[in-house]
Amino acid sequence: MMVLIIRGARQKSNALNAGITVLRWRRKMKALILNGSARGQKGVTGTLVEAITRGLMEAKAGVQTFEIQSLTISPCRACLTCMHKTPGECSIEDDMGLIYEACKTSDLLILATPLYVDTMTAQLKTVMDRSIACMQPFLVKDVAGRIRHPFTWRMPSSFLLLSTSGFPEQENFLPLIATFRAQAANFSSQAIGEICISGSIALQMEPELLKRHLTLLEEAGRHLGATGNIPEDILQNLNTPPVGVDRYLQATAKYEQWCRSKLNI
Ligand SMILES: Cc1cc2nc3c(=O)[nH]c(=O)nc-3n(C[C@H](O)[C@H](O)[C@H](O)COP(=O)(O)O)c2cc1C
Repeated sequence: MMVLIIRGARQKSNALNAGITVLRWRRKMKALILNGSARGQKGVTGTLVEAITRGLMEAKAGVQTFEIQSLTISPCRACLTCMHKTPGECSIEDDMGLIYEACKTSDLLILATPLYVDTMTAQLKTVMDRSIACMQPFLVKDVAGRIRHPFTWRMPSSFLLLSTSGFPEQENFLPLIATFRAQAANFSSQAIGEICISGSIALQMEPELLKRHLTLLEEAGRHLGATGNIPEDILQNLNTPPVGVDRYLQATAKYEQWCRSKLNI
């Protein structure tokens, strides 16, 4: 199975010119991963994405990953051309076109984002805003009886959240989880789970602390690829912080030392 990672417009056109196309999957599922980290593959989010990708690929799922940071994607201008003039098509011509195409043909959307000021990164939020291009202007009741827009084309039917945070407490993810669930509902997609791995400052100081979670992520990816879901016990284990607060402070003491040496204090 092949993964097409699109990092930037130049690489994108090279890849397309070279005739690399996203594969057709005869098998179960096509996963689309949007990595919203400002550090792309180099960050902790990138490490988590790699682990779940390994599992998905072992299960023979198709995986397409976009590093949003290295694409050119402008914010929504609220011109509503996509609703009123050219249904389903955004008027802005930029790399979002690649993501629209991938959304239309994927079964699962993995929103991978570090926690930035208690929610998703601006990079990922920009993509989600631009995704309203799939909506019609009309107003109807959704399955939950709420007033929402019907669709010109559909976003992937399942959404999964994959996140990490600098601080160690799990409750820091609550605003992000609320946003993620609301977004999935707005696109009439199913939120199949949230994977929130806290304490990244410690995890970067002592990467071995993340090992167990990476193994679990691979396992989660295998289940996802095979069944479209992750068993509840694996989700629970993944959402158990890799380190308690005391261990976190022990590991981050090295970071503090490094900061002090940089600041000469
Ligand atoms: C602009 C910014 C805002 C952040 N806000 C939070 C926050 O609200 N809570 C938290 O626990 N960590 C926060 N962090 C820390 C990141 O979540 C953490 O460093 C994460 O590992 C970054 O992801 P990356 O490793 O993929 O770059 C923030 C980091 C940045 C750069």
